[in-house]
Amino acid sequence: MKEKINKYINDINNIVISNPVEASSFKNKYLTKKGVLNQLFSEFKQLPGAEKKETGQLLNKLKILAFSKLETVENNSKPNKNKEIIDVTLPSNYEEIGSVHPLSKVQENIVNILKKVGFSISKEREIEDDWHNFSALNMPQNHPARDMQDTFFIDLNPDILLRTHTSSVQIRHMEKHKPPIRIISPGRVYRKEDISARAHCIFHQIEGLYIDQNVSFSDLKAIINYFLKSLFGKDVKTRFRPSFFPFTEPSAEVDIYWGLESESDYRITKGTGWLEIMGCGMIDPNVLKNVNIDADKFSGFAFGLGIERITMLLYQIDDLRLFFENDIRFIKQFQKAF
Ligand code: DAH
Repeated sequence: MKEKINKYINDINNIVISNPVEASSFKNKYLTKKGVLNQLFSEFKQLPGAEKKETGQLLNKLKILAFSKLETVENNSKPNKNKEIIDVTLPSNYEEIGSVHPLSKVQENIVNILKKVGFSISKEREIEDDWHNFSALNMPQNHPARDMQDTFFIDLNPDILLRTHTSSVQIRHMEKHKPPIRIISPGRVYRKEDISARAHCIFHQIEGLYIDQNVSFSDLKAIINYFLKSLFGKDVKTRFRPSFFPFTEPSAEVDIYWGLESESDYRITKGTGWLEIMGCGMIDPNVLKNVNIDADKFSGFAFGLGIERITMLLYQIDDLRLFFENDIRFIKQFQKAF
């Protein structure tokens, strides 16, 4: 009998159980009522007393081996038991929450201020054609004003480009809508500039366009002053300087007096305390003609402002590049500011 038991021990040691079917046939063979173990135990009872001790020990070894074999197989085939235990008293996984980018926040503030006086948002494409970015805005081929804006062309096709300003939205919108028009358009613009603390090849603008009957320069001034007071506070000092843009006539640039309290103020305003905030003007009748709006009946104004510069001043950020690096240590500093 000992030989028989040893043979089973050997069998079990060599057996490989790799799936539930094999496990259940193992169980059937060794551990059921009529299985090997029970049969051996019945045989064992009939043994003469002298043989019982050694054979009994061997039989126990076989029993333990058979059970432990099955147990390890069952444990391995179960999905990890420990992982399934849910301890509801443990603190949950802490997911780090991002924060609003300062440019998004300032853009949102500006948009909200202008929405209050009836402007609605119009968004347009960033990949533009020559007509919408230049020609229709009164900048025909070879117009010197094109040199002011170094352009990224796509596939060396001089007709397709990354818009250099949001003024292209004026044309797209006027082609599709008739006056009265009162829109703002925030968005990204692109220029082939060397990247430095003061310049970047990507930046953000907000364009405004207002067209109706009898719109005058004083309407433009009123809206701009309302806007600047809402954004920078009631006491902000502003000035309109005559300027030139091909798509407006007359044109102006608007400055605010920010002061020179910090080193950042000094750098951002180039030591003057004044900061140019936007360009604006009355829409040139040629532009209205280009989009089939009757320039004798309608007039309007437009303005365009850069979001980066305003944000730099408001939050004392000296280096434009910080806006685009998405370094969480930079962005996080504004979590509390808003
Ligand atoms: N598009 C001009 C620029 O990027 C800014 C601008 C000036 C927009 C005058 C206007 C405007 O709408 O009337 O430099």
